[in-house]
Amino acid sequence: MEVKHARLAASSSQTSQMPPPRLPEYAFIGRSNVGKSSWINCLVRRKNLAHTSSTPGKTRVINHFLINEAWYLVDLPGYGYAKLSQTERAAFAKLLGSYFSERENLVNVFVLVDSRIPPQASDLEFMGQLGENELPFTILFTKGDKLAPLRLESQVQEYLQALAEQWEPLPPHILTSAVTGMGRETVLAQIEAWNRLFHEPPPR
Ligand code: GTP
Ligand code: MG
Repeated sequence: MEVKHARLAASSSQTSQMPPPRLPEYAFIGRSNVGKSSWINCLVRRKNLAHTSSTPGKTRVINHFLINEAWYLVDLPGYGYAKLSQTERAAFAKLLGSYFSERENLVNVFVLVDSRIPPQASDLEFMGQLGENELPFTILFTKGDKLAPLRLESQVQEYLQALAEQWEPLPPHILTSAVTGMGRETVLAQIEAWNRLFHEPPPR
């Protein structure tokens, strides 16, 4: 799939502000600094669709980008920000919770994890919640260019071994880099295949 058009369709602090759920959507989420904005910009080949660095502590919103007038790429606020207050953390957890329970057009969640670091509690907890809510997800290992290929492979295998304690079968995963574009075609081809299978949810 070629990305021909990409534009910000909505910036929401409540699910009621989101676009009608008539098109398939794919959410991207990960801990702060995992490389989410860089990856989104790489995927759609825009320099600055998703801001490369947002200030932690700013109001959290959920951004819907409309791609090729056909599907939504959803940039979810990252979890694991150390600097959030209790109140902010609670508001943000609530927004994410309602997002995941209400968006019936959500096809898949892409969970970004840094390929250089071992599984983090917040990532495992988040994946556990997706599992409980029966939301399918794919792990994207980011910054793959920062490790030599063999090192990358062994790092990913270790990560998956740790995940195997919690998951059977293991969730799918893709190695990526926003610098080299590794994984880009794979993710776009997967989205394209899912788009073909998508049926608009009946009105509520
Ligand atoms: P926040 O929005 O601030 O939480 O971060 P983010 O997850 O959006 O990460 P961002 O894209 O801002 O990237 C964080 C840092 O990692 C930046 O310095 C990027 O240049 C760097 N980075 C992101 N992706 C890659 C990658 O694939 N390869 C390399 N080498 N660096 C990357
Ligand atoms: Mg960012």
